[in-house]
Amino acid sequence: MVIYYSGTGNSRYIAELLAVRLGDELVCANDYIKAEKRGEFCSEKPYVFVFPTYAWRVPRVFEDFYTQGAFTGNTKAYFVMTCGDSIGSAGYFLEKLCQMQLMSYMGVYEVRMPENYVARFRVPSKEEQEKIIAAAERKIPIISKYIREQEDFPKPDGKQAAAFTTQVITPVFYLFGVKDKGFRSTDRCTGCGECVRLCPLNNITLKEGRPAYRGNCTHCMACISGCPAEAIEYKRRTVGKPRYYLRKTALPQ
Ligand SMILES: Cc1cc2nc3c(=O)[nH]c(=O)nc-3n(C[C@H](O)[C@H](O)[C@H](O)COP(=O)(O)O)c2cc1C
Ligand code: SF4
Ligand code: SF4
Repeated sequence: MVIYYSGTGNSRYIAELLAVRLGDELVCANDYIKAEKRGEFCSEKPYVFVFPTYAWRVPRVFEDFYTQGAFTGNTKAYFVMTCGDSIGSAGYFLEKLCQMQLMSYMGVYEVRMPENYVARFRVPSKEEQEKIIAAAERKIPIISKYIREQEDFPKPDGKQAAAFTTQVITPVFYLFGVKDKGFRSTDRCTGCGECVRLCPLNNITLKEGRPAYRGNCTHCMACISGCPAEAIEYKRRTVGKPRYYLRKTALPQ
């Protein structure tokens, strides 16, 4: 069973490619997170969890979904993390989470995809995006082979940051860097409600036809990047900057 969490489409797309290649069931964790519902799953095949990297770690929102969920049947857990640059020492923490769930840790595979964190960085140009996505697509048969043969993923290479560094950085990042106070809508807003639908945490409501934020944000970038009118800004940092949101799908239409 392939289970994914995604803010702006990268992890969804990689999960779709894997599910198609493996002929396996695809589950969207966003639906459970949005519905505040605990996931209860049973799979004969290994579990494959696909999600983005936030501050060199598994996103807290997905960590909660995973640790609170029930995963019965096959006990093997593979983790595939999409990232803009590096997953850091995420594997160290994933192994511990896996032990809590009494699952066998089969390793983590890093898949570089276009950077989506527009509130902090520039997203790659369209040309770069295409190159990065094509390189990621080429990894799918390799990743799938490990899973199909139920072999461990190879150990990540030496560019991992030391785990203790993220033990300090990640909590600081969430405490000071992940706030929704900086989001605002501009006059381009049409009141379509797409941002409400896209927010995995139900953090947005429409008030007088405009998005209002409720203070429970994980900075996934779905609202600001998925808004069809580009009507959301984050402080002054995003003004004039292109957004990144992947709509490409691997599923038959
Ligand atoms: C809050 C936040 C933190 C991020 N931190 C990292 C990071 O530590 N390392 C990295 O390589 N990419 C980082 N990224 C980039 C995303 O992990 C990457 O673009 C990912 O593929 C987005 O997946 P999604 O479209 O499924 O949400 C971050 C993005 C966000 C929004
Ligand atoms: S998605 Fe954009 S245009 Fe639609 S309601 Fe939200 S901010 Fe307004
Ligand atoms: S408010 Fe926007 S950035 Fe925050 S969790 Fe919701 S969709 Fe993601």
